[in-house]
Amino acid sequence: MCGIVGYVGKNDCSEVLVSALSRLEYRGYDSAGIAVFENGNINVIKAEGRLKNLENKMENENFPKGSAGIGHTRWATHGKPSDINSHPHIGGEYVTLVHNGIIENYRELKEKLEAQGREFYSETDTEVVAKLLDFNYEGDPIKAIEKTLAEVTGSFALGILFKDIPNVIYAVRRGSPLIVGVKDEEGFIASDVPAIIKYTKDYYLLEHDEIAKIAEGSITFTDLKGNPIDKELKTADWDMDAAEKGGYEHYMLKEINEQPDAVRKTVAPRVFHGMPSLEECSITLENLKDIKQVFIVACGTAMHAGMVGKYAIEKLARVPVNVDIASEFRYRSPLVGEGDLVIIISQSGETADSLEALRVSKALGAKVMGVVNAKGSSIARESDMLVYTHAGPEIAVASTKAYMVQIAVMYMLSFELAFAKGRIDEGECKRLTAELMAMPERIAEIIKSTDEISHEAAKCLIDAESLLYIGRGFDYALSMEGSLKLKEISYIHSECYAAGELKHGTISLITDGMPVIAVATQSDLFDKTISNIKEVKARGAKVLLICGDGFEVGEDVADMVIRVPMYEEMLMPMAAIVPLQLVAYYSSVLRGNDVDKPRNLAKSVTVE
Ligand code: G6P
Repeated sequence: MCGIVGYVGKNDCSEVLVSALSRLEYRGYDSAGIAVFENGNINVIKAEGRLKNLENKMENENFPKGSAGIGHTRWATHGKPSDINSHPHIGGEYVTLVHNGIIENYRELKEKLEAQGREFYSETDTEVVAKLLDFNYEGDPIKAIEKTLAEVTGSFALGILFKDIPNVIYAVRRGSPLIVGVKDEEGFIASDVPAIIKYTKDYYLLEHDEIAKIAEGSITFTDLKGNPIDKELKTADWDMDAAEKGGYEHYMLKEINEQPDAVRKTVAPRVFHGMPSLEECSITLENLKDIKQVFIVACGTAMHAGMVGKYAIEKLARVPVNVDIASEFRYRSPLVGEGDLVIIISQSGETADSLEALRVSKALGAKVMGVVNAKGSSIARESDMLVYTHAGPEIAVASTKAYMVQIAVMYMLSFELAFAKGRIDEGECKRLTAELMAMPERIAEIIKSTDEISHEAAKCLIDAESLLYIGRGFDYALSMEGSLKLKEISYIHSECYAAGELKHGTISLITDGMPVIAVATQSDLFDKTISNIKEVKARGAKVLLICGDGFEVGEDVADMVIRVPMYEEMLMPMAAIVPLQLVAYYSSVLRGNDVDKPRNLAKSVTVE
């Protein structure tokens, strides 16, 4: 995930910037760069790859120490990792900036700026906002920022230098985090506390649409209109380890909280004039039109994301979808061939069985689409078509944000496939895409609103020896992931069953007090799921129901209910997975387990 730093003060600026960037390396990046003022000029240097490459280049080119500047580590979203696409970006005569987040409408803005004669050198959305800010700049930074922010949509943080205002950094944020550090006469900006903790523990938290002006010996805050804002100085009481977890107790909780941003980064760059567009991944309406059937092949959580994909694609595009466990698929002489699309979903891009399934599929003549999080991984390299998910590095073994973005991609693909096949019209495709674009904010709300109750629910589960998850349709696909999450990190045995299948055997396991977690978010299946819940309740089960807030639930149906707001129903897995993740997380914490590194499990399984 991109990282921003900035420094104004007496020390060697270039050195402080590189050192601060090195503390953000844990976020993952593929290139880095800095820009520093020196004698009224802004010098920019950038290099693809590790920070060491940047340092070598700085040494070789005798890069100036600088008196103030900004730096950036880039995790590519718009355009490949390269020197040119790295930040900082130059907007024109005045503006040089670094950016974290996404400018959602960058293509529209780029068209507009091109019509005004501005030329672009990179593939990034960042260059667009740099050019736009430069275009709007008439000597007053606040006015230019206000005007620019009125035009851009998305979630972002910016660190900005104006050439005619030497040794001053301007910073603004909307959505993406940014802090402003202070120590005596020195000022800092950073995406995250670890970047500056070596220098200072005192910082201000920049809020939505607030502007910071950092000069030597003075830090001021204003709103977009230039009205001054008083801010409370905070002091980090974290050690380095806690700082890298962003203040969260575990990476898993941090990553659950990063889901809105991850979805934004994965979806927004692929929406053009309201329509999903996977063209940058070599997926066009033309090549989707002729697909006869789809195979989704993956392992673990990624396979569960594939289950959601199956329900979405079949429902909307009416194309048959098989979901396969990779270790089964590769050895079962799959009936795959020309005209078929095989989708391999993988966070790491290195899972041995998934990679082999890819090779088997290609050998049989199918086209393979990789949906991969780790850049440059084997599955990414060998896929015919490639959709990167932009979750950033996932460190907790139990996958959360990678799953969320995998299902986001499944939805995008189902919309585009349905449109390509003429199953939905442009209006419907745009409506669904807008719903998907709205999910990040909704997910953020749900994380807040279900945190406490999920903690309470976990308290009721932790002494259980075994429990069941049930659901129908999308809720079944989702419950499979909920069940896996719980058993991975709490070590409580759990099974997921299609609610309608319970009576064919599993119901005999229900004993007095056994927990059953039921998910019901689909109106057409709601009554049926409730009947299944009643069947287990009548046999003594303790039921935790996760359901849409629009449904009426009788008092006798569940022992505890976690409600999530109802949105477009097919997108409900993105909402309802949140309490399931939190219940698993708190169960693990309450049982005193190693949440981020559960026993016997590995993050990347590169053997069969
Ligand atoms: C391991 C991980 C899971 C992951 C699965 C597939 O089991 O612990 O979290 O879902 O591998 O990994 P992949 O990298 O291919 O998504």
